[in-house]
Amino acid sequence: MAGLSTRLLNSDRDTMDRVNDVVQPINVATTFRYPDDPDDFVLSKDVDPSTLTTGRPLYSRLSHPNSSKCEAILGDLIGGHAVVYNSGLSAFYAAVTYFNPKTVAIGDGYHGVHGILDILTRNYGVKQVGLNELDKLSKGDVIHIETPENPYSKVHDLSYYVKKAHEIGAYVICDSTFAPPPLQDPWEFGVDMVMHAATKYFGGHSDLLAGVLVTKDPQVKTKLVNDRVFLGTNIGNLESFLLIRSLRTYQMRIEKQSSNAEKIVKYLDEHRAEYPALKIIHHSSLQKDDFVKKQMKGGHSPVFAIELQTPDQAKHLPSKLKYFQHSTSLGGVESLIEWRALSDPYARLTLLRVSCGVEDANDLISDLDHALKETK
Ligand SMILES: Cc1ncc(COP(=O)(O)O)c(C=O)c1O
Repeated sequence: MAGLSTRLLNSDRDTMDRVNDVVQPINVATTFRYPDDPDDFVLSKDVDPSTLTTGRPLYSRLSHPNSSKCEAILGDLIGGHAVVYNSGLSAFYAAVTYFNPKTVAIGDGYHGVHGILDILTRNYGVKQVGLNELDKLSKGDVIHIETPENPYSKVHDLSYYVKKAHEIGAYVICDSTFAPPPLQDPWEFGVDMVMHAATKYFGGHSDLLAGVLVTKDPQVKTKLVNDRVFLGTNIGNLESFLLIRSLRTYQMRIEKQSSNAEKIVKYLDEHRAEYPALKIIHHSSLQKDDFVKKQMKGGHSPVFAIELQTPDQAKHLPSKLKYFQHSTSLGGVESLIEWRALSDPYARLTLLRVSCGVEDANDLISDLDHALKETK
Protein backbone atom coordinates (compact mmCIF):
# COMPACT_ATOMS: atom_id res chain seq x y z
CA MET A 1 0.00 0.00 0.00
CA ALA A 2 1.25 3.51 -0.79
CA GLY A 3 2.30 5.74 2.13
CA LEU A 4 -0.16 8.00 3.92
CA SER A 5 0.73 11.31 2.24
CA THR A 6 0.72 9.65 -1.19
CA ARG A 7 -2.75 8.30 -0.50
CA LEU A 8 -3.98 11.65 0.81
CA LEU A 9 -3.07 13.15 -2.55
CA ASN A 10 -4.37 10.34 -4.72
CA SER A 11 -7.03 8.16 -3.12
CA ASP A 12 -9.92 10.16 -4.61
CA ARG A 13 -8.37 10.80 -8.00
CA ASP A 14 -8.85 8.02 -10.49
CA THR A 15 -12.44 7.30 -9.71
CA MET A 16 -13.81 10.71 -8.82
CA ASP A 17 -12.11 13.52 -10.76
CA ARG A 18 -14.75 15.16 -12.95
CA VAL A 19 -12.37 17.49 -14.79
CA ASN A 20 -8.63 17.38 -15.37
CA ASP A 21 -7.82 20.40 -13.16
CA VAL A 22 -5.10 19.50 -10.67
CA VAL A 23 -7.26 21.09 -7.96
CA GLN A 24 -10.88 20.04 -8.34
CA PRO A 25 -13.19 23.05 -8.61
CA ILE A 26 -15.30 24.49 -5.83
CA ASN A 27 -18.61 23.01 -6.79
CA VAL A 28 -21.51 25.11 -5.59
CA ALA A 29 -24.41 23.45 -7.43
CA THR A 30 -27.24 22.27 -5.22
CA THR A 31 -29.00 20.44 -8.05
CA PHE A 32 -27.75 18.38 -11.00
CA ARG A 33 -29.39 17.77 -14.39
CA TYR A 34 -31.01 14.39 -15.02
CA PRO A 35 -29.67 12.38 -17.99
CA ASP A 36 -30.50 13.82 -21.42
CA ASP A 37 -31.81 10.49 -22.66
CA PRO A 38 -35.11 9.49 -20.97
CA ASP A 39 -34.07 5.84 -21.38
CA ASP A 40 -31.40 6.51 -18.74
CA PHE A 41 -33.86 7.75 -16.12
CA VAL A 42 -34.01 5.71 -12.87
CA LEU A 43 -37.19 6.05 -10.84
CA SER A 44 -36.62 7.28 -7.30
CA LYS A 45 -38.06 4.05 -5.85
CA ASP A 46 -35.53 2.01 -7.84
CA VAL A 47 -32.38 3.94 -6.84
CA ASP A 48 -29.91 1.63 -5.10
CA PRO A 49 -29.33 3.42 -1.76
CA SER A 50 -25.73 2.22 -1.63
CA THR A 51 -24.95 4.35 -4.71
CA LEU A 52 -26.31 7.55 -3.16
CA THR A 53 -22.88 9.10 -2.61
CA THR A 54 -21.03 7.54 -5.52
CA GLY A 55 -23.54 7.58 -8.36
CA ARG A 56 -24.69 10.55 -10.40
CA PRO A 57 -25.37 13.47 -8.00
CA LEU A 58 -29.00 14.56 -7.72
CA TYR A 59 -29.32 17.16 -4.98
CA SER A 60 -26.53 18.36 -2.69
CA ARG A 61 -28.30 17.49 0.57
CA LEU A 62 -27.92 13.86 -0.53
CA SER A 63 -24.36 14.17 -1.81
CA HIS A 64 -22.29 16.35 -4.09
CA PRO A 65 -19.01 15.83 -5.94
CA ASN A 66 -16.75 17.20 -3.21
CA SER A 67 -18.58 15.56 -0.28
CA SER A 68 -18.04 12.23 -2.04
CA LYS A 69 -14.37 13.06 -2.53
CA CYS A 70 -14.03 13.87 1.18
CA GLU A 71 -15.54 10.47 1.98
CA ALA A 72 -13.12 8.68 -0.33
CA ILE A 73 -10.08 10.36 1.23
CA LEU A 74 -11.29 10.08 4.85
CA GLY A 75 -12.37 6.46 4.40
CA ASP A 76 -8.91 5.59 3.14
CA LEU A 77 -7.21 7.61 5.91
CA ILE A 78 -9.25 6.26 8.83
CA GLY A 79 -9.74 2.76 7.41
CA GLY A 80 -13.39 2.14 6.63
CA HIS A 81 -16.48 3.60 4.98
CA ALA A 82 -16.73 7.31 5.78
CA VAL A 83 -19.80 9.55 5.96
CA VAL A 84 -19.16 13.29 6.26
CA TYR A 85 -21.29 15.84 8.11
CA ASN A 86 -21.50 19.59 8.50
CA SER A 87 -19.94 19.51 12.01
CA GLY A 88 -18.49 17.14 14.56
CA LEU A 89 -21.68 17.40 16.60
CA SER A 90 -23.80 16.48 13.58
CA ALA A 91 -21.66 13.36 13.26
CA PHE A 92 -22.27 12.46 16.90
CA TYR A 93 -26.02 13.11 16.56
CA ALA A 94 -26.06 10.83 13.50
CA ALA A 95 -24.25 8.08 15.41
CA VAL A 96 -26.72 8.08 18.32
CA THR A 97 -29.62 8.30 15.87
CA TYR A 98 -28.27 5.22 14.09
CA PHE A 99 -27.62 3.11 17.22
CA ASN A 100 -30.78 4.41 18.97
CA PRO A 101 -29.67 3.35 22.49
CA LYS A 102 -31.87 3.50 25.57
CA THR A 103 -28.80 4.23 27.71
CA VAL A 104 -25.47 5.87 26.85
CA ALA A 105 -22.36 5.47 29.03
CA ILE A 106 -20.13 8.52 28.72
CA GLY A 107 -17.22 10.16 30.53
CA ASP A 108 -16.38 13.84 30.77
CA GLY A 109 -15.24 14.89 27.31
CA TYR A 110 -16.46 17.58 24.95
CA HIS A 111 -19.38 19.44 26.51
CA GLY A 112 -21.27 19.73 23.20
CA VAL A 113 -21.70 15.97 23.05
CA HIS A 114 -23.28 16.11 26.52
CA GLY A 115 -25.54 18.88 25.20
CA ILE A 116 -26.88 16.53 22.50
CA LEU A 117 -27.45 13.73 25.01
CA ASP A 118 -29.28 16.16 27.28
CA ILE A 119 -31.66 16.94 24.39
CA LEU A 120 -32.23 13.20 23.83
CA THR A 121 -32.83 12.73 27.55
CA ARG A 122 -35.29 15.63 27.63
CA ASN A 123 -37.21 14.57 24.52
CA TYR A 124 -37.01 10.78 24.52
CA GLY A 125 -35.89 9.77 28.02
CA VAL A 126 -32.48 8.43 26.93
CA LYS A 127 -30.56 7.57 30.11
CA GLN A 128 -26.97 8.69 30.68
CA VAL A 129 -24.58 6.82 32.96
CA GLY A 130 -20.90 7.21 33.80
CA LEU A 131 -18.09 5.03 32.47
CA ASN A 132 -17.96 3.36 35.90
CA GLU A 133 -21.63 2.28 35.64
CA LEU A 134 -21.44 -0.17 32.75
CA ASP A 135 -23.59 -2.69 34.68
CA LYS A 136 -26.53 -0.38 33.87
CA LEU A 137 -26.18 -1.02 30.12
CA SER A 138 -28.19 -3.55 28.11
CA LYS A 139 -28.05 -5.00 24.60
CA GLY A 140 -28.15 -2.28 21.98
CA ASP A 141 -26.87 0.47 24.28
CA VAL A 142 -23.82 2.60 23.56
CA ILE A 143 -20.53 3.41 25.28
CA HIS A 144 -19.19 6.69 23.92
CA ILE A 145 -15.44 6.95 24.50
CA GLU A 146 -13.65 10.14 23.71
CA THR A 147 -9.95 9.31 23.81
CA PRO A 148 -7.78 11.20 24.41
CA GLU A 149 -10.42 13.15 26.24
CA ASN A 150 -11.10 16.87 26.14
CA PRO A 151 -9.74 19.01 27.79
CA TYR A 152 -7.05 17.03 29.68
CA SER A 153 -5.92 14.80 26.83
CA LYS A 154 -6.56 11.80 29.08
CA VAL A 155 -6.36 8.40 27.39
CA HIS A 156 -9.06 5.80 28.11
CA ASP A 157 -8.45 2.08 27.70
CA LEU A 158 -10.38 1.20 24.52
CA SER A 159 -9.79 -2.57 24.86
CA TYR A 160 -11.45 -2.57 28.27
CA TYR A 161 -14.60 -0.73 27.13
CA VAL A 162 -14.91 -2.75 23.92
CA LYS A 163 -14.72 -6.02 25.88
CA LYS A 164 -17.34 -4.81 28.38
CA ALA A 165 -19.65 -3.51 25.65
CA HIS A 166 -19.49 -6.61 23.49
CA GLU A 167 -20.14 -8.91 26.45
CA ILE A 168 -23.57 -7.30 26.80
CA GLY A 169 -24.27 -6.65 23.13
CA ALA A 170 -23.67 -2.90 23.41
CA TYR A 171 -21.68 -0.78 20.95
CA VAL A 172 -18.61 1.47 21.28
CA ILE A 173 -18.35 4.78 19.46
CA CYS A 174 -14.84 6.25 19.69
CA ASP A 175 -14.40 10.00 19.30
CA SER A 176 -10.77 10.04 18.18
CA THR A 177 -10.64 13.78 17.39
CA PHE A 178 -7.73 14.41 19.79
CA ALA A 179 -5.60 11.65 18.25
CA PRO A 180 -6.38 11.21 14.56
CA PRO A 181 -4.34 8.81 12.40
CA PRO A 182 -1.53 7.88 12.62
CA LEU A 183 -1.46 8.76 16.33
CA GLN A 184 -4.16 6.24 17.34
CA ASP A 185 -6.08 3.53 15.47
CA PRO A 186 -9.31 2.73 17.37
CA TRP A 187 -10.09 -0.18 15.00
CA GLU A 188 -7.18 -2.12 16.49
CA PHE A 189 -9.17 -2.35 19.70
CA GLY A 190 -12.44 -3.46 18.11
CA VAL A 191 -14.63 -0.33 18.35
CA ASP A 192 -17.86 -0.29 16.34
CA MET A 193 -17.70 3.23 14.95
CA VAL A 194 -15.08 5.97 14.78
CA MET A 195 -16.02 9.62 14.93
CA HIS A 196 -13.98 12.79 14.36
CA ALA A 197 -14.69 16.48 14.52
CA ALA A 198 -13.06 17.06 11.11
CA THR A 199 -13.20 20.76 12.00
CA LYS A 200 -10.00 20.12 13.96
CA TYR A 201 -6.96 18.28 12.51
CA PHE A 202 -8.47 17.18 9.20
CA GLY A 203 -9.57 20.75 8.47
CA GLY A 204 -6.44 22.07 10.14
CA HIS A 205 -6.77 25.75 9.15
CA SER A 206 -9.53 27.00 11.47
CA ASP A 207 -11.70 27.81 8.46
CA LEU A 208 -14.28 25.03 8.18
CA LEU A 209 -16.73 22.97 10.23
CA ALA A 210 -17.08 19.27 9.45
CA GLY A 211 -17.52 15.89 11.06
CA VAL A 212 -17.07 12.30 9.98
CA LEU A 213 -18.28 8.85 11.03
CA VAL A 214 -16.46 5.77 9.84
CA THR A 215 -17.78 2.21 9.84
CA LYS A 216 -16.31 -1.08 8.66
CA ASP A 217 -19.71 -2.16 7.29
CA PRO A 218 -20.82 -0.74 3.91
CA GLN A 219 -24.47 -1.40 4.83
CA VAL A 220 -24.11 0.78 7.93
CA LYS A 221 -22.70 3.53 5.71
CA THR A 222 -25.78 3.27 3.50
CA LYS A 223 -28.06 3.62 6.54
CA LEU A 224 -26.08 6.60 7.82
CA VAL A 225 -26.29 8.27 4.41
CA ASN A 226 -30.04 7.63 4.25
CA ASP A 227 -30.49 9.22 7.68
CA ARG A 228 -28.27 12.15 6.71
CA VAL A 229 -30.54 12.93 3.76
CA PHE A 230 -33.40 13.59 6.17
CA LEU A 231 -31.40 15.08 9.03
CA GLY A 232 -30.07 17.58 6.46
CA THR A 233 -26.54 17.40 7.80
CA ASN A 234 -24.34 16.80 4.77
CA ILE A 235 -21.19 18.93 4.62
CA GLY A 236 -21.54 22.19 2.68
CA ASN A 237 -20.12 22.64 -0.80
CA LEU A 238 -17.45 25.20 0.06
CA GLU A 239 -16.46 23.41 3.26
CA SER A 240 -15.95 20.15 1.41
CA PHE A 241 -13.62 21.90 -1.05
CA LEU A 242 -11.65 23.37 1.86
CA LEU A 243 -11.51 20.00 3.61
CA ILE A 244 -10.06 18.31 0.51
CA ARG A 245 -7.47 21.10 0.26
CA SER A 246 -6.56 20.50 3.90
CA LEU A 247 -6.34 16.72 3.70
CA ARG A 248 -3.61 16.93 1.05
CA THR A 249 -1.15 18.23 3.70
CA TYR A 250 -2.62 16.44 6.70
CA GLN A 251 0.23 14.05 7.51
CA MET A 252 2.86 16.80 7.67
CA ARG A 253 0.67 18.90 9.94
CA ILE A 254 -0.37 16.23 12.43
CA GLU A 255 3.17 14.90 12.83
CA LYS A 256 4.57 18.39 13.52
CA GLN A 257 1.72 19.32 15.85
CA SER A 258 2.08 16.12 17.84
CA SER A 259 5.85 16.44 18.13
CA ASN A 260 5.53 20.13 19.12
CA ALA A 261 3.18 19.18 21.96
CA GLU A 262 5.49 16.44 23.19
CA LYS A 263 8.50 18.79 23.17
CA ILE A 264 6.65 21.59 24.97
CA VAL A 265 5.16 19.29 27.62
CA LYS A 266 8.55 17.66 28.23
CA TYR A 267 10.20 21.06 28.64
CA LEU A 268 7.56 22.41 31.01
CA ASP A 269 7.60 19.19 33.01
CA GLU A 270 11.40 19.27 33.38
CA HIS A 271 11.38 22.95 34.39
CA ARG A 272 8.39 22.88 36.74
CA ALA A 273 10.45 24.29 39.61
CA GLU A 274 10.91 27.54 37.65
CA TYR A 275 7.16 28.16 37.38
CA PRO A 276 5.56 28.70 40.80
CA ALA A 277 2.21 29.48 39.14
CA LEU A 278 2.07 26.11 37.35
CA LYS A 279 0.15 23.55 39.38
CA ILE A 280 -0.56 20.63 37.00
CA ILE A 281 0.29 19.66 33.42
CA HIS A 282 -2.21 17.28 31.81
CA HIS A 283 -1.11 15.35 28.71
CA SER A 284 -1.21 11.80 27.45
CA SER A 285 2.62 11.79 27.31
CA LEU A 286 2.68 12.13 31.12
CA GLN A 287 0.01 9.47 31.72
CA LYS A 288 1.57 6.34 33.21
CA ASP A 289 -1.08 3.64 32.50
CA ASP A 290 0.19 0.64 30.49
CA PHE A 291 -2.46 0.95 27.80
CA VAL A 292 -1.35 4.48 26.83
CA LYS A 293 1.73 3.30 24.91
CA LYS A 294 -0.27 0.58 23.19
CA GLN A 295 -2.96 3.00 22.10
CA MET A 296 -0.94 6.11 21.23
CA LYS A 297 1.41 4.22 18.92
CA GLY A 298 1.90 7.04 16.46
CA GLY A 299 2.52 9.88 18.95
CA HIS A 300 0.66 11.94 21.53
CA SER A 301 -2.15 14.43 21.12
CA PRO A 302 -1.23 17.96 20.02
CA VAL A 303 -3.54 19.17 22.82
CA PHE A 304 -2.53 19.49 26.46
CA ALA A 305 -3.84 21.43 29.43
CA ILE A 306 -2.28 23.24 32.34
CA GLU A 307 -3.76 24.27 35.64
CA LEU A 308 -2.44 27.33 37.41
CA GLN A 309 -2.63 28.04 41.13
CA THR A 310 -5.40 30.67 40.91
CA PRO A 311 -8.24 31.62 38.52
CA ASP A 312 -6.76 35.10 38.21
CA GLN A 313 -3.43 33.73 36.97
CA ALA A 314 -5.24 31.58 34.40
CA LYS A 315 -7.34 34.53 33.25
CA HIS A 316 -4.28 36.71 32.62
CA LEU A 317 -1.75 34.28 31.18
CA PRO A 318 -3.08 34.25 27.56
CA SER A 319 -2.49 37.99 27.18
CA LYS A 320 1.20 37.51 28.05
CA LEU A 321 1.76 35.26 25.00
CA LYS A 322 3.07 36.28 21.58
CA TYR A 323 2.54 33.18 19.43
CA PHE A 324 -0.38 31.39 21.12
CA GLN A 325 -3.62 33.11 20.16
CA HIS A 326 -6.30 33.29 22.83
CA SER A 327 -9.14 31.43 21.20
CA THR A 328 -11.25 28.30 21.53
CA SER A 329 -10.89 25.21 19.31
CA LEU A 330 -7.89 23.12 18.31
CA GLY A 331 -6.32 21.40 15.36
CA GLY A 332 -5.38 24.46 13.29
CA VAL A 333 -1.87 25.24 12.07
CA GLU A 334 -1.74 28.20 14.47
CA SER A 335 -1.18 27.50 18.17
CA LEU A 336 -4.05 28.43 20.45
CA ILE A 337 -4.51 28.73 24.18
CA GLU A 338 -7.84 29.12 25.93
CA TRP A 339 -8.92 30.05 29.41
CA ARG A 340 -11.34 27.19 29.12
CA ALA A 341 -14.05 28.60 31.36
CA LEU A 342 -14.87 31.10 28.58
CA SER A 343 -16.42 28.38 26.40
CA ASP A 344 -16.92 25.34 28.63
CA PRO A 345 -19.41 25.81 31.49
CA TYR A 346 -17.96 22.77 33.32
CA ALA A 347 -14.29 23.81 33.18
CA ARG A 348 -12.29 24.67 36.28
CA LEU A 349 -11.45 28.38 36.51
CA THR A 350 -7.74 27.57 36.79
CA LEU A 351 -7.63 25.60 33.53
CA LEU A 352 -5.93 26.62 30.29
CA ARG A 353 -6.18 24.37 27.24
CA VAL A 354 -3.35 24.50 24.73
CA SER A 355 -3.56 23.45 21.09
CA CYS A 356 -0.18 23.19 19.37
CA GLY A 357 0.18 24.38 15.80
CA VAL A 358 3.06 23.99 13.35
CA GLU A 359 5.28 26.86 14.49
CA ASP A 360 8.85 26.18 15.57
CA ALA A 361 8.75 24.26 18.86
CA ASN A 362 11.53 26.39 20.37
CA ASP A 363 9.56 29.59 19.77
CA LEU A 364 6.48 28.08 21.39
CA ILE A 365 8.52 26.89 24.36
CA SER A 366 10.14 30.28 24.95
CA ASP A 367 6.74 32.00 24.62
CA LEU A 368 5.19 29.81 27.34
CA ASP A 369 8.34 29.88 29.46
CA HIS A 370 8.31 33.67 29.46
CA ALA A 371 4.58 33.95 30.22
CA LEU A 372 4.73 31.41 33.05
CA LYS A 373 7.71 33.17 34.62
CA GLU A 374 5.84 36.48 34.38
CA THR A 375 2.81 34.96 36.14
CA LYS A 376 3.10 35.64 39.86
C1 LIG B 1 -13.55 15.96 21.03
C2 LIG B 1 -14.56 16.77 20.27
N1 LIG B 1 -15.60 16.14 19.71
C3 LIG B 1 -16.54 16.82 19.01
C4 LIG B 1 -16.46 18.18 18.85
C5 LIG B 1 -17.53 18.90 18.07
O1 LIG B 1 -17.04 19.31 16.84
P1 LIG B 1 -17.70 20.55 16.03
O2 LIG B 1 -17.32 21.79 16.75
O3 LIG B 1 -17.14 20.42 14.66
O4 LIG B 1 -19.19 20.31 16.06
C6 LIG B 1 -15.40 18.88 19.41
C7 LIG B 1 -15.32 20.34 19.29
O5 LIG B 1 -14.49 21.01 19.87
C8 LIG B 1 -14.42 18.15 20.14
O6 LIG B 1 -13.39 18.77 20.73
